[in-house]
Amino acid sequence: NTTLRAAAAAKGRYFGAATSSFMFSDTQHVTILNREFNSIVAENEMKWDATEPNQNQFTFTGGDRLVAHARANGMSVRGHALVWHAQQPRWAQNLSGTALRNAMINHITRVATHYRGQIHSWDVVNEAFADGGSGGRRDSNLQRTGNDWIEVAFRTARAADPTAKLCYNDYNTDGVNAKSTGIYNMVRDFKARGVPIDCVGFQSHLGTGLASDYQANLQRFADLGVDVQITELDVAQGSSQASIYERVTRACLAVTRCTGITVWGVRDSDSWRRGENPLLFDGNGNKKPAYTAVLNAL
Ligand code: XIL
Repeated sequence: NTTLRAAAAAKGRYFGAATSSFMFSDTQHVTILNREFNSIVAENEMKWDATEPNQNQFTFTGGDRLVAHARANGMSVRGHALVWHAQQPRWAQNLSGTALRNAMINHITRVATHYRGQIHSWDVVNEAFADGGSGGRRDSNLQRTGNDWIEVAFRTARAADPTAKLCYNDYNTDGVNAKSTGIYNMVRDFKARGVPIDCVGFQSHLGTGLASDYQANLQRFADLGVDVQITELDVAQGSSQASIYERVTRACLAVTRCTGITVWGVRDSDSWRRGENPLLFDGNGNKKPAYTAVLNAL
């Protein structure tokens, strides 16, 4: 196999990238995207601020362009993200209590209904757990509506789109640590109580090291009966970049329920971390050693 998408497909996995509809006029970006990837995710265009800029007024223009591009090019679409403490529209930032809870439910219902049947996995809730040793929830306006906001979000998403896999997605969950264990305990509780959750996304925004128990951590979640996905992979440039990409790829392949990998952009110049050159293609669209390491590991 000579492309990431073909190599991943041969292993029953997808290989995805984050992109944006405004990039579709960049020929080099699109050429690489269509050649190498069989899943795409909107880097920003399906977030709350983008899809509901004014309360109960929805704009799906960018996301619809992504979905159309995916359909035309044999790609599936990850949905990112229905609710999150960040990138909320101003009006939602100013809500609290029942008004915010109801706005959240309406947002999830309207967005997931609009895209019903077109999203293979939705990040229903993004980044709800705190960093550090507490293992608890992050403080946010959503959290202050009551601890049950996450399960309400998942039940609402399931009702709106019963065909999408519903994921919880977070970062700094790359090994067994207090944060990942807090999430693990939530998923275990959801499975025990019948709260609809199908997958856990590991963003995997990585530096120059990788937790030695990265694969074991994926496996413990899979053992709860959910799929796991690498959802936003990027790795700081350095002598370890290619080997970290390779280890992440091997870890996913070693976990039966790891269904795919998404990198958070195509070329280094496209990246939100562009100063760290964290992606598989350089700013000229050339394959980097990290690309070859991933392809060979698949
Ligand atoms: C980032 C985008 O890449 C940027 O373009 C945007 O300015 C901020 O958000 N975790 C997530 C992603 O879940 O949505 C974030 O994406 C990166 C961190």
